[in-house]
Amino acid sequence: MKLPLVVVTGAGSGIGAAIAVELGRRGFHVIVTDVDADAAATTASAVASAESATLDVTDPAACDEFVRRTVDAHGRLDVWVSNAGISKMQPFVDVAPADLRRTFEVNTYGVFYCGQSAARAMIALGTAGRIINTASMAAKQGGVPYLSDYVASKFAVLGLTQAMAFELAPYGIRVNSVCPGFVATPMQSRELAWEASLRGTDPDTVRQMWIDDTPLARLQTPEDVAKVVAFLASDDAAFLTGESISVNGGAFMD
Ligand SMILES: NC(=O)c1ccc[n+]([C@@H]2O[C@H](COP(=O)([O-])OP(=O)(O)OC[C@H]3O[C@@H](n4cnc5c(N)ncnc54)[C@H](O)[C@@H]3O)[C@@H](O)[C@H]2O)c1
Repeated sequence: MKLPLVVVTGAGSGIGAAIAVELGRRGFHVIVTDVDADAAATTASAVASAESATLDVTDPAACDEFVRRTVDAHGRLDVWVSNAGISKMQPFVDVAPADLRRTFEVNTYGVFYCGQSAARAMIALGTAGRIINTASMAAKQGGVPYLSDYVASKFAVLGLTQAMAFELAPYGIRVNSVCPGFVATPMQSRELAWEASLRGTDPDTVRQMWIDDTPLARLQTPEDVAKVVAFLASDDAAFLTGESISVNGGAFMD
């Protein structure tokens, strides 16, 4: 019997890599994708059943072509995880139009394009698939310093998740988001350095502030997020759609 097939975007690093490993552990064949081909290949080498591919989520034609090739090769597409994302910390008044555009291109348009390509294929295959988007704690509250463009791009992902869930429900396709908090990844290391410099302090102090803001009193691991994604991909979440699940140790409760 063929293994269920999942595609994960931005899986060459951090949370996406952990999602790929966790879903591989749970019996999926994982297609590990990233704009960085080497990073995707490195992640794939740590996954039980995997292959890697280059995919830039900002290119809608590439997303369609990638899905077409995947379905041609495997005859199925069961789960799509839109995880790729970027951040750059700077004061709201300093965000240049090009930075704003880039943030939306990856974080919002990328989720839109990939969701369209995946949904078209799932509908054509008659597959009751699952689409899972990585949003953020900053998708639910804007009280976040120096990330105004990121906040706006991630709030959009929550609305998009609901709209996709609504339109795709008649096909049995479920669409949900995860909203991580302070996750120890390369993105976080960059943010620690930026926030420390913008606040005139050091990264250790910022890290401790983030831990102090988290009732469960530690930084999150990428695996904390990956396990919730695995739940959303499973039949245990069979009646769950249009939701955006906080995974943040209580740092923001809604
Ligand atoms: N780390 C956190 O604290 C945190 C918190 C909340 C949400 N998130 C979200 O989780 C997701 C993963 O973040 P992470 O912390 O693992 O970041 P990361 O920087 O460690 O990994 C992101 C990956 O996305 C890839 N990527 C960037 N642009 C891409 C593109 N155009 N097409 C395809 N891939 C692209 C990068 O090459 C990288 O491998 C992002 O959507 C991020 O916004 C992260």
